[in-house]
Amino acid sequence: MCNKFPWVKEETGKIWLFGGSVLLFLVVVIRVIWVNSHPNWEMWQIQYYQAQIAQLKSKIDSTQNPELRKTLEQQLDNLKEQKPEIKTLILPNGKIERCQTCHLGIEEISASHSSEAFGCVVCHGGNALSLDQNQAHAGMYGAGHPGRLEVSQLSCGSQNSNTQCHSGNVRSEDNQVDLVESSLMASKGGELSMIRYMHGLDISPKISIKPGVIASQVPSPFNGQPLEQKLLSNCLEACHQSNGKLLEQASLANGCESCHVLTDWSHTYQGQDVTVKGEAGHGLTHRLTTQIPYTQCNQCHNQGIPNLYNMQFNSRPDLASVKSSSEKGVETPTDRLKNVYQPSMVFTKCEVELDCIDCHTRQEVMGDGHLYPTEYQDLKIQCYDCHGTKDKKPSGWTVGTSDDLAFEEEQVNTNFPKLNIGDQILKTAKGEELPYIRQDALGWVLTSKVLGKKYPIPLVYGSGCMQNPEAQTSNDCHKCHDFSGNLKR
Ligand code: HEC
Ligand code: HEC
Ligand code: HEC
Ligand code: HEC
Ligand code: HEC
Ligand code: HEC
Ligand code: HEC
Repeated sequence: MCNKFPWVKEETGKIWLFGGSVLLFLVVVIRVIWVNSHPNWEMWQIQYYQAQIAQLKSKIDSTQNPELRKTLEQQLDNLKEQKPEIKTLILPNGKIERCQTCHLGIEEISASHSSEAFGCVVCHGGNALSLDQNQAHAGMYGAGHPGRLEVSQLSCGSQNSNTQCHSGNVRSEDNQVDLVESSLMASKGGELSMIRYMHGLDISPKISIKPGVIASQVPSPFNGQPLEQKLLSNCLEACHQSNGKLLEQASLANGCESCHVLTDWSHTYQGQDVTVKGEAGHGLTHRLTTQIPYTQCNQCHNQGIPNLYNMQFNSRPDLASVKSSSEKGVETPTDRLKNVYQPSMVFTKCEVELDCIDCHTRQEVMGDGHLYPTEYQDLKIQCYDCHGTKDKKPSGWTVGTSDDLAFEEEQVNTNFPKLNIGDQILKTAKGEELPYIRQDALGWVLTSKVLGKKYPIPLVYGSGCMQNPEAQTSNDCHKCHDFSGNLKR
């Protein structure tokens, strides 16, 4: 027999081999025992504490301030002492939930939905008491995406419990779940009716779907014409596929989430919950917001130009600049011009400098309860709503009572200046209040919803503007007011 290690006696080699095998066996046995005695949830908690400790250590390493260092080291000691334990949440209604036993450290979803008051199940469904992953998740609404429109009545609408959330209220403005069902962005009814009209299938654009139905569910949107398949795949299903899915394949965020849960092009969770960390198909963190930056709207908008004659979508050549734009709004206005809109389109400075939702009202983004056949009919905001015309100033509205909708809108956005009875706010020609635009001694001032910056609004009335008061579309204005400087201002 050949001895590979002549300096080791054959006998000793055998003993080593035997000893090694026994050791390996013991290690495996001990690990199996350890894993079995440490259920899944304990493993997640241990991973969570390890991740927190690593984060804190790197913070300590990079701090120069001795005071801060001391506090951080204290925190580190505390963390090191944490032992896995079942986390039980007792809600004000007496119900008990244990989801956080695994989802330790998950971000508070928003100030108005604190976990102490709401828990998790009211939005997500699932089995509150189970500590087994599959059992706990069984029956979750929208498979973890409660904003999908097919389940939003149960989650956001809270149809299962006897509380009224975003549906079933007396005031229709508070029933966002019902409103969104009829919005063009959810239904894509505008696309359907405009394309049918342009191809001669309807005499005038007309809506052929009901609220809650989406255009891609219409059996034969193009009456069996050759382009039917392309209309379905390139248009109706491409963006708002299955009730409002974001464009990128990786994202499963739907419906309400496509605006209210911020994401970037990675669509990957980057928060503190280790069970989902780095997983694609989520927003950036567990967070709902009404301060929606333009980058979120551009997950669907300004990506390219649809050709309505051959049903092709032509992506813009500089899509990379859209993807590089920052959610925090730190770009210069010129960079922003490049990032926001497609090349060769004309915009005024304010259309670039402000965020989409500083102009596009809540009725535009979430609907007003009616289904319109065209975007043109659906649009609420006009340039003159803020700037007036040569003959007319913008219309003001004095907030008269405490049940004015303006107070509720003020509440959902911390950037809005404090509102008092008697304040003058702007009202659009179509009658919608814009409580973030206020009249002060010097005139109308807009507080931007996302960044909280204040912008005085220059009026056409009394300026040297050379507009024709009858020509008020943005195209009319863009002939002279072009931020890119291609045309004469
Ligand atoms: C035993 C541990 C455990 C418990 C208990 C648990 N979860 Fe999870 N949860 C996980 C893990 C692990 C993942 C990531 C893997 C996955 O996506 O299934 C996850 C993922 C999720 C997701 C994302 C779903 C997806 O498909 O991306 C949601 C939402 C969620 N959990 C909610 C809950 C809620 C609500 C409860 C309580 C009713 C709960 N979880 C209880 C372990 C648990
Ligand atoms: C107000 C409703 C609401 C409440 C309350 C809520 N969630 Fe969520 N949760 C959401 C929404 C919306 C998403 C985003 C889904 C997406 O990105 O598609 C989400 C996503 C998640 C995810 C996936 C990771 C992510 O951030 O996308 C997990 C895990 C999760 N929730 C667990 C919990 C747990 C645990 C609780 C209780 C402490 C809880 N949620 C409370 C609405 C809620
Ligand atoms: C998930 C994709 C998606 C997201 C996110 C999205 N939109 Fe849209 N939007 C659409 C589609 C699709 C249409 C066209 C619908 C039609 O005509 O049938 C549209 C139409 C519009 C219109 C014109 C019609 C109308 O309803 O008034 C406005 C204005 C608009 N979007 C603004 C916004 C703003 C502001 C945001 C960000 C807060 C946003 N959108 C986010 C997909 C999206
Ligand atoms: C296309 C983008 C978009 C979609 C989709 C969307 N929202 Fe909104 N939502 C907004 C914007 C923008 C605001 C902020 C309006 C403001 O600041 O006045 C808002 C505000 C809200 C508010 C605060 C109160 C109010 O009405 O101003 C609630 C509640 C709300 N949305 C619920 C929902 C629910 C529930 C869904 C899904 C059924 C949904 N939203 C879908 C864009 C959207
Ligand atoms: C929601 C209110 C609002 C709407 C709607 C609005 N603007 Fe403005 N506009 C502003 C604000 C605020 C400023 C000042 C800040 C800035 O210049 O960006 C401004 C500035 C301007 C200016 C002067 C700055 C410049 O030199 O370009 C012009 C011209 C203008 N807007 C034209 C338009 C046109 C055209 C439209 C319609 C497409 C429009 N605005 C829609 C709020 C609005
Ligand atoms: C300064 C105000 C302002 C800002 C900021 C703004 N819009 Fe608009 N938008 C308008 C006005 C006014 C119209 C109506 C134009 C008309 O009637 O000719 C409009 C029209 C639209 C339309 C209808 C179709 C079209 O192209 O005419 C869409 C879609 C749209 N805007 C989306 C967006 C998105 C997405 C953003 C952010 C990236 C945005 N808007 C930012 C004022 C604004
Ligand atoms: C024929 C060219 C022309 C057209 C069309 C035009 N404007 Fe003007 N506008 C001007 C000129 C010139 C000024 C004066 C610039 C100055 O005083 O610095 C001006 C000034 C303004 C101002 C005041 C800017 C400031 O900084 O004080 C606003 C607001 C404005 N226009 C909005 C509009 C809107 C909204 C439209 C479309 C309904 C429009 N303009 C159409 C040429 C035009």
